[in-house]
Amino acid sequence: AHTVTRTDDGIVSVGGVEVTTLAEEFGTPAYFLDESDFRARARAWRTAFGHDADVFYAGKAFLSRAVVRWLYEEGLNLDVCSGGELVTALSAGMPADRIAFHGNNKSAEEITAAVRAGVGRIVLDSFQEIVRVAHIAQSLGTRQRVQIRVTVGVEAHTHEFIATAHEDQKFGIALADGQAAEAVRRALTLDGLELVGIHSHIGSQIFDMAGFEVAARRVVALLAAVRDEHGVELPEIDLGGGLGIAYTSDDDPREPHEIAKALSEIVTRECEAAKLRTPRISVEPGRAIVGPTAFTLYEVGTIKPLEGLRTYVSVDGGMSDNIRTALYDAEYSVALVSRTSDAEPMLARVVGKHCESGDIVVKDAFLPSDLAPGDLIAVPATGAYCRSMASNYNHALRPPVVAVNDGEARVIVRRETEEDLLRLDVG
Ligand code: LLP
Repeated sequence: AHTVTRTDDGIVSVGGVEVTTLAEEFGTPAYFLDESDFRARARAWRTAFGHDADVFYAGKAFLSRAVVRWLYEEGLNLDVCSGGELVTALSAGMPADRIAFHGNNKSAEEITAAVRAGVGRIVLDSFQEIVRVAHIAQSLGTRQRVQIRVTVGVEAHTHEFIATAHEDQKFGIALADGQAAEAVRRALTLDGLELVGIHSHIGSQIFDMAGFEVAARRVVALLAAVRDEHGVELPEIDLGGGLGIAYTSDDDPREPHEIAKALSEIVTRECEAAKLRTPRISVEPGRAIVGPTAFTLYEVGTIKPLEGLRTYVSVDGGMSDNIRTALYDAEYSVALVSRTSDAEPMLARVVGKHCESGDIVVKDAFLPSDLAPGDLIAVPATGAYCRSMASNYNHALRPPVVAVNDGEARVIVRRETEEDLLRLDVG
């Protein structure tokens, strides 16, 4: 669905607009997001799961009011994990009953705001939270629909910081030792709660379907145990997000319809075996929807060749607009997009302008050896967890997000200004 083309002069266009025009109009660094690609991916998830399932876009990947409106129009729901994401969703008109609220340490204020707004579900993450949400809902005179997040004990093969189904970590309630069964027991006795399902999220940037399948089987087994103990068939299961995307040509991601098919088959089969009604399935893709839809455009600055090693290519952004390389050892690709070049490729490391040597955007990549200050280079697949994890390190001004569609570009999150920075500094 991506609308990327290159002219004979080597100038790349996205959504019908040339990057040179984009750079002139919006400056660099900046994220450019292909709106029709975003909508197409959202729709692909929606249709893959059909009407018996719900797709909750994970707002943590990237959230803005324009994105909320696109999701609403494409029939998706939204997963939020903070008061800030909740207020963004509500202010853009997402109906509260299409919002799920996550988090391992939701504050009383956040829970109150979510219950007041009437969110479709709160995902309970701990024993303490079961009681906390129940009290707040009850004191507001309502019953809150909730799911319980369990850790199913599978090892997802991804970076340690983004794997979440093993037991030694902060999220969720373990299936092991009857913990999750005990959580269900407690939730069912509390008047403020309407327990509707079980939630599992095994991690992020995952390519292997096996982990999801094990998770699905274990969650269904818990539903069967709940039915046996309480005579209650919980109507929903959520299998989280986590589907990997291609950052470099080595990655081979699964398509939404493959995931949908695998998950529905396994849930249906396990439920039949356990003589359970098949619950409504939901999933929470973030990266797989927004990740591939945007790239970051940088202007090349200082170039430092190191004989026999590599050439350091400095750009006008860095770890403040993409922390993923420094934090997870993530791999990205990069391309010269403002002209052609026949020069020999050189081994380059694309680095930012921040005051530390770990400030790397692309660790190792080939760029033409005639690269020069003023050239524009693009790093693809930066739609997820780049703007949303951007920082003001070194008082950097966070870059804008510009949506490009049908030959038109418009800012959806504007660039920060020095006034924005100074406004917070009230000492
Ligand atoms: N659902 C839950 C409960 C989650 O915790 C997450 C991600 C998702 C859904 C969406 O996962 P996705 O489909 O986007 O992989 N900052 C890291 C990723 C952290 C993911 C946290 N939770 C990164 O840049 O790779």
